[in-house]
Amino acid sequence: MAEMAKRGIAFMFRRLQSCHNVEDMRLLAKQRLPDPIFHYIDGAADDEVTYRRNTEAFEECDLVPNVLAGVDKVDMSVTVMGLKLDMPIFCSPTALQRLFHHDGERAVARAAEKFGTMFGVSSLGTVSVEEIGGMIKAPKMFQFYFHKDRGLNNSLIQQAKAAKFDILALTVDTITGGNRERDVRTGFTSPPRLTLGSLLSFALHPRWAFDYFTHEKFELSQLKDYVKEGSNVAISVGEYFSTMLDQSMNWKDAEELRQRWGGQFCLKGVMSAADARRAADIGATAIMVSNHGGRQLDGSRSPFDQISEIVDAVGDRIDVILDGGIRRGTHVLKALAAGAKACSGGRMYLYALAAAGQPGVEKALSNLRTEIERDMKLMGVTKVSQLSRDMLRFRSIR
Ligand SMILES: Cc1cc2nc3c(=O)[nH]c(=O)nc-3n(C[C@H](O)[C@H](O)[C@H](O)COP(=O)(O)O)c2cc1C
Repeated sequence: MAEMAKRGIAFMFRRLQSCHNVEDMRLLAKQRLPDPIFHYIDGAADDEVTYRRNTEAFEECDLVPNVLAGVDKVDMSVTVMGLKLDMPIFCSPTALQRLFHHDGERAVARAAEKFGTMFGVSSLGTVSVEEIGGMIKAPKMFQFYFHKDRGLNNSLIQQAKAAKFDILALTVDTITGGNRERDVRTGFTSPPRLTLGSLLSFALHPRWAFDYFTHEKFELSQLKDYVKEGSNVAISVGEYFSTMLDQSMNWKDAEELRQRWGGQFCLKGVMSAADARRAADIGATAIMVSNHGGRQLDGSRSPFDQISEIVDAVGDRIDVILDGGIRRGTHVLKALAAGAKACSGGRMYLYALAAAGQPGVEKALSNLRTEIERDMKLMGVTKVSQLSRDMLRFRSIR
């Protein structure tokens, strides 16, 4: 058994070493995960138009480099919500991570710390914020879902405060569940309705099953004392959004939450300039311009298409973060040149987590860091603050 495990690890590292970009990681994740779980990460809403657009938008914008700029030393650090990050992209909060790899949030937290960047833990996290708080000193964001159950809301705030999380991010784009048809097809629903093909796919991925069943029992650590679903992998995220979250949530609730939290407060999922202004008005210190990775409202605009308008509206009042669609270092540079303070992403590290746990996430962050450094040199800049809109040209009128 030990020999088998050793051979397995050697195989994993061989494959991991040949992952040079996000798409390579995606393919490795696809190979390692049972279909329903892979498609939960990889899928999005309706026809997935917005999901594709989130990345394609970057490709319609060209960079105009400068040369002879003396770029032997590059500093890619940024300061966002008062926190210094060694690289200008951080790990967005995502649900159910121990389903993707048995180390789950532990792997991502340690990797993010190693690269001096921030890690966001979801309300639907599978390792407690208490444990993560004790594990890493790097900046931490707790992602908050606004539940009908006010006792649960209070408990989440207390848990995040006690674990010394730096930022509370209220997600505002999940007022109901997006229509994720891949999940419906694979049976990743509540209760699970696995098709014959899905069951076969679990059978064909015995390594995933072995890891899943030989490690601690799955739980939704932040929710487990409040909801029966807290210990149940069968919950569908769509149903959770639709039944447990409070659809009457409004600006007053957001402002009260900000006051109760009392620290750095971010709205995740703002897409219009008008909402960005209201976020600043209620005292948010940042917004994440995001459409939830295309998983909610299909047909909504991409974060990169919206970023300039939003930066122009509120960039002098709050920090504007571009979230979603990032697959390359040049995407990060384009967002920063348009005026974003930092970028964040989910799948860019989730595929890697699924592919190989902590070494996978480290490789993903290393690949991106190498790209960003190289791209900054090629652009003729040594600091993020030197990137500007003069360096961007859009191919079509926007
Ligand atoms: C599998 C998965 C789970 C996610 N879970 C959450 C979540 O629990 N809370 C949340 O606010 N956003 C969640 N998101 C959205 C991410 O935080 C982020 O906005 C999105 O992944 C950005 O798009 P990208 O994957 O193209 O980078 C999730 C995204 C994915 C792919």
